[in-house]
Amino acid sequence: MKYAAITGWGKCMPPAILDNAGLATFLETSDEWITSRTGIKERRISHVPMTLLSHVASARALACAGLDASDLDLIVLGTCSADEQVPNTASGVQFLLGANKAAAMDVNTACTSFLYGLSSATAMVRTGVVRNALVIGVEVISPYMDWSNRNVAVLFGDGAAAVVIQASDEPSGVIAEKLGCAADARHTLRVRGMGTIYGNNQLQLGDTRWDFDGQEIFKRAVHGMSEASQAALQRAGVDSTAVDLAIPHQANLRIIEAVAKRVGIPMDAVYLTVQRYGNMSSATVPVALVEALEEGRVKPGSLLLTPAFGGGLTWCAHVIRWGERVTPLGTSGLSLPDCEQSGVELVQDLIKRKGNTSKGFEAPLPTL
Ligand SMILES: CC(C)(COP(=O)(O)OP(=O)(O)OC[C@H]1O[C@@H](n2cnc3c(N)ncnc32)[C@H](O)[C@@H]1OP(=O)(O)O)[C@@H](O)C(=O)NCCC(=O)NCCS
Repeated sequence: MKYAAITGWGKCMPPAILDNAGLATFLETSDEWITSRTGIKERRISHVPMTLLSHVASARALACAGLDASDLDLIVLGTCSADEQVPNTASGVQFLLGANKAAAMDVNTACTSFLYGLSSATAMVRTGVVRNALVIGVEVISPYMDWSNRNVAVLFGDGAAAVVIQASDEPSGVIAEKLGCAADARHTLRVRGMGTIYGNNQLQLGDTRWDFDGQEIFKRAVHGMSEASQAALQRAGVDSTAVDLAIPHQANLRIIEAVAKRVGIPMDAVYLTVQRYGNMSSATVPVALVEALEEGRVKPGSLLLTPAFGGGLTWCAHVIRWGERVTPLGTSGLSLPDCEQSGVELVQDLIKRKGNTSKGFEAPLPTL
């Protein structure tokens, strides 16, 4: 059996920052509330569609791996906020990269989409279906956000990162994982307005209302991430003391602390980005992985654990054995177009474009 080594990594963060003080200019909230409840200080707002963020992150990951786009057999793009339903975003990335031999698919399991995508691509590499794959975690949530709802608007941000995985004889890459879904709680996180069941409500694209039961999600997240971690570690034949670095999904600092305590991992072995980026849904874990590598927190042979949860409520944990190389083979000159606006200005534009978000929701809302 082959392994699927992670040989390249790259991120692309939109430059416009929306800090807690900026949110408080149009929402009844405060830095004190957001910091004490979530640990979040600021997040990014994208001035470009997700296909462009993904393209830059992917070009950087390919340069890091020393791989040409034409050598890719597969692109898996994890997201729940696609630019368009059809065609999928992965095909846009294939086009921009010139990766014309690659199959291209999107995966949506909300915040766990990158990790479900990593499992899918790893399985295809390990069974010989493909040799070289690109896995992207990207989210541009800001156009879908209900900016009048302080319960959710303070939590999320935009971002992208990608990894290259390649067939290898060395035992590295994902060595064990556990995936699951607590569908009885799928109503606790629902973005109303995205999808065909809303067709009769005459919604404008991007008009959304979020059903969100924060406390129930919190409990389910701690439970799901902890159980998944224990199961994945057991499948890998190790216990929590073997974990060199945990890189969890970053929705809330308190969730991360509770999971670390339950699983038995000290907080100094947990990598955090939640304070600077908030919850970037499927982009969260890959961005954190890239930054952990950039900061030298991932060493040759490190054992990593990546517990996560998302809408659905999906949950998972992966055990990753890092290979020998922790530095990029090359760099890409590709970057985003300049952004002239601040985070607050970008959000104010979105609010204007979305118009009166409540008008589409006068009709009773359907439920599946
Ligand atoms: C959302 C979350 C931060 C709320 O924290 P909490 O400690 O549960 O807070 P509560 O729900 O008890 O809210 C307490 C109060 O703060 C208020 N509040 C909510 N958002 C606020 C904000 N941004 N600023 C100020 N006050 C706010 C509430 O209205 C409530 O007021 P009330 O007591 O007068 O009704 C927390 O539940 C959480 O992180 N849940 C997980 C959700 C998540 O991460 N989802 C992403 C899924 S991938």
